Amino acid sequence: MNFEKEQESVKGYCALVGDLLRHEKVREMHQYPHHRDVDTLYHSVCVSYLTYKICEKMHWHPKEATRAALLHDFYLYNWYTDKHDEWHAFLHPKMACKNAEHYFGALTPRQEDMILCHMWPLHLAPPHSREGFVLTFADKVCAVRDLIGTSKRFAPVYERIFSEVDHGTSADNL
Ligand SMILES: [Fe+2]
Ligand SMILES: [Fe+2]
Repeated sequence: MNFEKEQESVKGYCALVGDLLRHEKVREMHQYPHHRDVDTLYHSVCVSYLTYKICEKMHWHPKEATRAALLHDFYLYNWYTDKHDEWHAFLHPKMACKNAEHYFGALTPRQEDMILCHMWPLHLAPPHSREGFVLTFADKVCAVRDLIGTSKRFAPVYERIFSEVDHGTSADNL
């Protein structure tokens, strides 16, 4: 993707989730490791940016979907040290929903379903919306990238996103 197109995507994405990305509890995800050396905030931005690109292009409720995707792993603990048990994979979507509603108000039914079902097919309940399938797909793509070490390629876009939400000057910093 060329520079202008990517920049347009960064601005479109930030217009939908900028308020969430500025929030201290969302930033707190940076403290928690998610996969190997990738933290939960980095992973969540990566997943939600991919979800945004697909849902925006397809006109599939991009705002609702991108916000749910950013909060899909909003469980807010270090699962390696604080709650390292075999149930983390099954329980963390519920914790993410609970935290999302606590800090940001009610989720829509679609958003709740997207978050609760994002671990499919690990559990048996598939998502009930196209947007939910996009999230599970984006989550798997980013998780594989995290595990094989290629998710760092997203770093320049990640920096632009935070430059945009913090200063509105992402284009100046490139
Ligand atoms: Fe997850
Ligand atoms: Fe995830």
